[in-house]
Amino acid sequence: MVALKRRARRVVNRLLRRRGGAPQVVAKTTESRDKWATEAQEGEFLFHKNNKWRQTPDFMRQTDRLLRHFGFTPEQYAGRTVVDVGAGSMLRTKFFTGAHLVVVEPLADRFLTEIENTDLKDAAELYSTPAEQLITELVGRCDLVISINVLDHCYDFPQIVDNIRQYLKPDGLAFLTFDMHDKADHMHPLSLTEQTCKPIFAKAKLRIEKVTTGVGDALGGAQTYGHGPFTLNYWLRRADI
Ligand SMILES: C[S@@+](CC[C@H](N)C(=O)[O-])C[C@H]1O[C@@H](n2cnc3c(N)ncnc32)[C@H](O)[C@@H]1O
Repeated sequence: MVALKRRARRVVNRLLRRRGGAPQVVAKTTESRDKWATEAQEGEFLFHKNNKWRQTPDFMRQTDRLLRHFGFTPEQYAGRTVVDVGAGSMLRTKFFTGAHLVVVEPLADRFLTEIENTDLKDAAELYSTPAEQLITELVGRCDLVISINVLDHCYDFPQIVDNIRQYLKPDGLAFLTFDMHDKADHMHPLSLTEQTCKPIFAKAKLRIEKVTTGVGDALGGAQTYGHGPFTLNYWLRRADI
């Protein structure tokens, strides 16, 4: 009987692993922040420095397809505050015409110094810090906090989620889209799944308004930003008001 139970548990664990379930999932790295900075972020910096495609019109054409797929329109946040968490070296959020754009990007200072054509200088406010660090200037001010293909690159998802909730105005929206993969690696220190995200959002007092997977036709048929089988896309609202 005991052996049977043990065998059943092994099978369940194997299935969970295949679905990106509990056993191997990491929402907070056991690695140090130093490792994130020296390995993942060094790789990230080189990627952006060498990525010429981002500086072509095709990058914003792709962005337009992607954000429209998620239901956004360019004029929707005119005169309102949009925070781009992990903006990268080229601003996808320029899609939002007339918005007050805020960038939170830990490599921002280096991008500005070392990538000639970066458009980060077009943001109204720029914070060259990781999203895990609370930016007090943003608390309660933001209409939209958006993060595209970033959160599995970070080192402390629960802390980021808590900060994001604090940035939102009472009627603000957080939109988070990232790759779901069941194993972390040196460039993607966090592995995030629906099972791990759900309690973290609840603990941070964020209500899931909608969750979808994949990106439709926006990326030429691919359903991920590069890792795992599909993206997870969350629309979140404050649950503490
Ligand atoms: C794959 S790029 C995506 C950039 C941009 N969002 C886009 O879609 O083009 C991932 C970005 O996440 C940033 N990033 C990594 N760790 C982060 C953290 N802890 N807080 C905020 N951004 C982070 C990286 O510096 C990098 O610019």
